[in-house]
This record gives sequence, C-alpha cells and structure tokens, in this order.
Amino acid sequence: MSPVRDRCIVLGVTGSIAAYKAAEVCRLLVGEGAHVVPVLTESAQKMIGEATFTALASEPAVTSLWDDSPTAIPHTSLGQRASAIVVAPATARLIADLRTGRSGDALTATLLASTAPVIVAPAMHTEMWEQPSVQDNIATLIERGVTIVGPVDGPLAGGDIGAGRMADPAEVVAAVSAALTPQSMAGRRVLVTSGGTREPIDAVRFVGNRSSGKQGTAVADAAAARGAEVVLVTTEPSAVVSGVRVVPVETAAEMAAVVELEAHGADAVIMSAAVADFRPANPVGGKLKKGQGVPTLELEPTSDILASLGASKPPGQVLVGFAAETEDLQANALAKLHSKNLSMIVANDVSKEHVGFGHDTNEVVIYSSDGTHRHVPLTTKQQTACVLLDEVETLLTVSDAPETAMVEGSQ
Ligand code: CTP
Repeated sequence: MSPVRDRCIVLGVTGSIAAYKAAEVCRLLVGEGAHVVPVLTESAQKMIGEATFTALASEPAVTSLWDDSPTAIPHTSLGQRASAIVVAPATARLIADLRTGRSGDALTATLLASTAPVIVAPAMHTEMWEQPSVQDNIATLIERGVTIVGPVDGPLAGGDIGAGRMADPAEVVAAVSAALTPQSMAGRRVLVTSGGTREPIDAVRFVGNRSSGKQGTAVADAAAARGAEVVLVTTEPSAVVSGVRVVPVETAAEMAAVVELEAHGADAVIMSAAVADFRPANPVGGKLKKGQGVPTLELEPTSDILASLGASKPPGQVLVGFAAETEDLQANALAKLHSKNLSMIVANDVSKEHVGFGHDTNEVVIYSSDGTHRHVPLTTKQQTACVLLDEVETLLTVSDAPETAMVEGSQ
C-alpha cells in the first residue's frame, strides 16, 4: 500500500512557470490514494487556474487566508491536518519565507502552523538558484529536516539551459512517499540488480532480452524510501531512482564483477536482473558488414552470478532470486531456490497478460526456503516491491534474533 494512501497532503503551488507541473503532482498523489488539498499563492494563480486543481484534488483549492471556510482559521486547521506539505514548484521567495518564518498568505501561514514533514521542489532560473542567498536558505532548510527535491538541469523558460528546472513530478511524489514511509530499513545495506544484460556480437549489435529493469528499480526505490543504503547495479540507469547509488553495467561479466564487490557486507541482495546465460564467444571489435555474409554466432556460457552468491552466502544475508517462467512456475522456481541456495525466489509467469517484462504491473509468487509461499496478485511493480521488502525485512529480523538473544544471555 502506498504510504500516501488516506493521508492528507497539502500541495503548495507558487508562481513559477513550472506551476503547470503541479497539476501532475496532484494527479499522481490522488492516484496513489492521497487526500490532496491544494494551496495556491496569488502568483501561482497567474500561472495556472484554481479550477484545474479543484477538479483534480480532493478538496477545493485554497487561494487566500480569507477564503470562505467552515473554520475561522483555515491555515491552522489545514496545517494540523496535513500529514505532509509539498511545495512544487517553490520560488526563491517561498524558500526565503520558509527559512525566516514569514507568513503573508495561506501557504506560508499553513507551513508555519504545521509540524508535518515538508518537501520542497525548487524551480527558478539558474542565476537565481545559484545565488549565495538562495543556497544559504536551502542549506538551512536541509539542516532543519526539510526535503529538497531537485532542481534538475535542463531547458528553462526563455530558452536558457541550466540548473533550476523543477524535478519530475514522479520524483516529487516519490519524495513525499519517502517522507511518510517508516524508516524500517535504516542501517541496512541492500544490493539490487536490474535490467537485461547485453552481450556484444560486434561494435553495434548485441544479444539481449526483454527486461525493462522496472521491477528492480521499484525495489531499489522502495528500499531507499525505507531508509536502507541501496546500490543498484543496472543496465537501465536512466530510470528515476532517488537516494540510490546507481552503478551502470552492460554485460553479465561486468555485472558479476560489480556484484561480487558490492555484495560484501550487504544485508540483502536482490537479483532481479535478467542475466544472459550465453554470450557470443568471439565478439567482433568493429561492425560486421552485410557483404561478409551471414555470420555464425558461437555462444559460450556466462557465469551464474546468483549461484556464486548462494555458494558463498554469509550467515544472516538474505539472498533473493527472480524466476521469469513460461511454464511449470512452481517447479522451476523451487528448483532454482534450492540449487542456488536462496532465501527466497520471486517467480512470475511472463506468458500472462500484463505480467513481467516491460509492463508496469506484475503478478508474482514469492517462494521461501522455509517452504512457505506468498501470492501477490496483479498489481503495480511498486506494490510488488513493497510486499517483497516486507518479506525481506521479516527474514532480516529473524536473522538478527540469535544475536540479540546472545547479547541478552551474556548479561
Ligand atoms: N542469474 C544470474 N546469473 C546468470 C543467470 C541468472 O545471476 N548467469 C540469476 C537471475 O538474476 C535470477 C535468477 O538467476 O535472479 C534466475 O534466472 P533465470 O534466467 O530465470 O534462471 P536460470 O538459472 O538462468 O535458468 P533458465 O534460464 O534455464 O530458466
């Protein structure tokens, strides 16, 4: 379940040209089940209509301290009701007001009247963003625990290019989710792999597979949101992942080398990558030309990364494999679970509609080495990731237990 579900989220919108992106933030939050109350500054209303937010949100947009309201003091009741306040986009003025505690309108008053977590997505021109005064304000807000998302580099209003573009709405929503997620994996190190490896045939062609990396990205993202220190080794590094260290790789051999290093000290290793079992034995340095005739591809086996991890699995480490199958799901998955010495395996039948490779949804069965299994019916890959991490956390708690008992017993 999304951490924003049934939570009251105040969406502050200020007068940046990026105000139109706030409508998407609103839509995404409502889509995840949040109760969204938009609060628009006067300048924001010059950039985007109040009616847009009233149509998308859970309550009419608040546009002034003097709106008709059932309560005499709307900003204090809204500030108290809020589970989180996200300001997207945030102008330099809002950032300065937030730092100094100035309250001149409904948004700044609501921010002052709340103890909820605050997420700010700045958007402004590069020169403004880089001003020492703005940077100083941002540093102070970070020190006080405010989450700052972005800004990112890219085209800005007026044709300039530089830092100052508001972060992607999905990233803003991910930051809101993270702010409301219990930090149940704080102090844990998690290694995740994702995507399909590409094994070169020549300088331009490769042997690959249909993996999009979406499920692994969702797992990495969700683990980071729970406070874990996450490394994602992936062939799809461009996917949105916040708070995750991303190591881009191409081939099975590259992935094996990075994973071998990173797995040391990891509390959990989650191998969701679709790793090639075979690679061209003699890749050509340049480009194979058509005129040279039809080539014969000789393949050789790659090493099985997961099997090696299983063979040298340190006590307490949770090792998770994936099995994308088209038949005999349970038998194939259990065979891999046992032969690779895994803690659990996430199996899916990729011949089913909307399941697995390339889709935003998945349906899986998680088989555990203790003989239990858990069916996760068709849902988003984010939700699948949450269920998987719940299972991983349970196992980590179990493996922590003997240590606790020893400490207690030695007193
Ligand atoms: N895996 C791996 N290294 C490989 C092949 C697979 O680490 N060279 C991992 C995958 O990341 C996945 C698990 O092993 O977590 C199962 O992968 P899969 O391709 O389903 O199984 P295989 O063992 O390769 O067997 P088969 O292809 O015959 O189904």
